[in-house]
Amino acid sequence: MVNGKSQSVPDAQALEPLVWVLRDTLGLAGTRYGCGIGVCGACNILLDGQVVRSCQTETKAAVGKEIITLEGLAKGQELHPVQQAFLENPLQCCWCMTGHIMNAVELLESNRQPSPEQIDTAMNDNYCRCGGYNSIRANVVRASEIISSQPAAKRIVIRRKS
Ligand code: FES
Ligand code: FES
Repeated sequence: MVNGKSQSVPDAQALEPLVWVLRDTLGLAGTRYGCGIGVCGACNILLDGQVVRSCQTETKAAVGKEIITLEGLAKGQELHPVQQAFLENPLQCCWCMTGHIMNAVELLESNRQPSPEQIDTAMNDNYCRCGGYNSIRANVVRASEIISSQPAAKRIVIRRKS
């Protein structure tokens, strides 16, 4: 499942890195390609609720699992609070932004009000070549505020397997 829809790709793509299947085969270009060696985090997606580097994940590893990409975070016209926070305070070139957003979504799913130290720990494996780390940290705090201000029934929850 990709963003709630069942998808199939040719067997020949089973060993391809997931980032290319998402971007080129399924047209989900919100997933970025940066270093290609698992370092920068630009290609982050959620696989069964956990952040993974899609440049380092073979497509066959996602069979039977729930993939959420940047495109799958919003519910209709309603942006995910993390997307909303990054929209209010955008970064510079934004190439890294998807990776940071996916990291922040994973963090806030398990901890709605993380401490500054918890934010730094959760976000510190993603690079921003433009040096936007202060904005990134502020955006996670802002997303936390948005989520905390929402009634529980309205909170966006990313599905994950038990
Ligand atoms: S492109 Fe995957 S970690 Fe950099
Ligand atoms: S805003 Fe340019 S790489 Fe992060």
